[in-house]
Amino acid sequence: MESLTAQATRFGSSILDRADTLAAISERPAMLARSYLTAQHRQAGERVLAWMREAGMRADFDPMGNVIGRYEGANAGAPAIVSGSHLDTVIDAGKYDGIFGILAPIACVAELHRGGSRLAFPVEVIAFGDEEGTRFGASMLGSKALAGAFHEELLDRRDAEGVSLREALGRFGGDAAAIARLRRDPASIRVFIETHIEQGPVLLEAGLPVGVVTTIAGASRVHVKVEGEEGHAGTVPMALRRDALAAACEMVLAVERRCRATDGRIVGTVGKISVREGGAINVIPARVEFTLDVRSGDDVERRRAVKDIESEFLDRAAARGVHLEWTLLEEVAATPCDAIEQERLGEVIRAMGMPVRRLPSGAGHDAMQLARVSPIAMLFVRCGNGGVSHSPRETLSAEDAGIASVVLLRYLQSVT
Ligand code: HGY
Ligand code: MN
Ligand code: MN
Repeated sequence: MESLTAQATRFGSSILDRADTLAAISERPAMLARSYLTAQHRQAGERVLAWMREAGMRADFDPMGNVIGRYEGANAGAPAIVSGSHLDTVIDAGKYDGIFGILAPIACVAELHRGGSRLAFPVEVIAFGDEEGTRFGASMLGSKALAGAFHEELLDRRDAEGVSLREALGRFGGDAAAIARLRRDPASIRVFIETHIEQGPVLLEAGLPVGVVTTIAGASRVHVKVEGEEGHAGTVPMALRRDALAAACEMVLAVERRCRATDGRIVGTVGKISVREGGAINVIPARVEFTLDVRSGDDVERRRAVKDIESEFLDRAAARGVHLEWTLLEEVAATPCDAIEQERLGEVIRAMGMPVRRLPSGAGHDAMQLARVSPIAMLFVRCGNGGVSHSPRETLSAEDAGIASVVLLRYLQSVT
């Protein structure tokens, strides 16, 4: 009988090898960046399809560009246990964000297939085409389609080159007209479980390889435009300027001030800022655009913070004589994981001789969308380097990847 350590080591090293294979599929030579409906999405998806088929699954792209594999269960017609995460990445990404949550369930199904065993339930593994929202500015498009939360107007969102989501889907071989039919019937899913790197330091500091997610933080994403007046950097007196960049800088610091005042319950980030045409050393900036991302486990607190930030921005704009354009891009509510499934995951971890650590997720995940049509569970795996993520410094040990995969396999086997 193979020991737990031996099984975990086998799982873990093959998962890390496969993560390396996918990490080599990037739109940019010097860093990992793989966005939705690109040639690299297609290439990575084909690779994942091959692994799913090797693991005994029927697998294919769906009309949204998600890659879906299915391993039949013993009871025909039983609802499926679904597990998955996202195939797309941020710019200059790490190798494991999303990817681990695709490779781990494939490894579990391959193990079942190798042993010729079937669970009572069919198992579906999904590699969602877009979760980060990097290309079209709207996140979780793949999981929104399966959850019935994809709104038609999203098809008109355009990328930096002006290509609409509708056009990109057509070029990719997707089918915009079929999206409405992709919503899953809640009766067809027993549970959705997403495994994911923690993307934070909690498990690392606790010295634990895995943790059970309690709640996924809600988020508000906003696009802000500040319009002032261009002018000669040398001739316009300071008191007469309507400097859009100076106003934007005050706004960015206002975000930090408001969120710092909540001792960690709310986080706020300005991740992108640009001056029109890049600006020039001797021109007073007239047009600045930036993004705002506000998160909290408490939706009321988050919404209040977003409201406070908007009115602070309006005050700053009025004081400086610049115009503010505030566009709420999207918001997603804080999403609790199913209590029974949290307990089931905890039982599996306990039975493997490990302490059970429950923790919230500050990061958003596709599970938030699947929660609209299914109970959800999330398993976090420890990441190293202080828990850094959305960075090439992201690390995951083969041992932890293996342990988390064995927890997932035993969870799948324990679902009733
Ligand atoms: O932004 C997030 O939380 C996730 O990485 N999309
Ligand atoms: Mn991410
Ligand atoms: Mn992720």
